[in-house]
Amino acid sequence: MTRLVVREAARPTEIRFETTDRAAIAAAFADLGALYEHWEVAGDLPADADPSVALELYGERIGRLKEVGGYQGADVVRLRPDHPDREKLRTAFLQEHTHADDEVRFFAEGTGVFYLHIDDQLIQIDGEQGDLLLVPKGVKHWFDAGTEPNFTAVRIFTAEPKWEALYTGDAIALAVEAALVA
Ligand SMILES: [Fe+2]
Repeated sequence: MTRLVVREAARPTEIRFETTDRAAIAAAFADLGALYEHWEVAGDLPADADPSVALELYGERIGRLKEVGGYQGADVVRLRPDHPDREKLRTAFLQEHTHADDEVRFFAEGTGVFYLHIDDQLIQIDGEQGDLLLVPKGVKHWFDAGTEPNFTAVRIFTAEPKWEALYTGDAIALAVEAALVA
């Protein structure tokens, strides 16, 4: 279930606000200058299909978003629980960073958690199939799909895919992970 949890960045176990109401999540994201939408799920992708089939399944919505946001490109990334490099990838993901462009993700399948670090707030969004999330450029964030990642995500970008992460060097992502697991 999609869930928004607003925590204290310095004490992540301290919850300020929590909701699973999609309208409330959208409103909270709008207040942050971010975007949350839930798109009607077009169905699971065939297990053996190339993940890029998601671009066709959600072509209309993706096209509309591109038009509104001025985005040019889109691709699809899929990570399965048996990925041989899943641990290495998770370590790479658990680093706070920003981007020069908006980070736009649509969960065509599976789940994953985004953390946005804005001032003294830590905004956790548990995304699920059908969720569209936009992390505005410059906003500190990281992504965690857990120890058994399972998602297929459409990535929408401004021009050329620029996946350059500008790492902040803050170890907050690991600290949060440790605090929430404890
Ligand atoms: Fe990112």
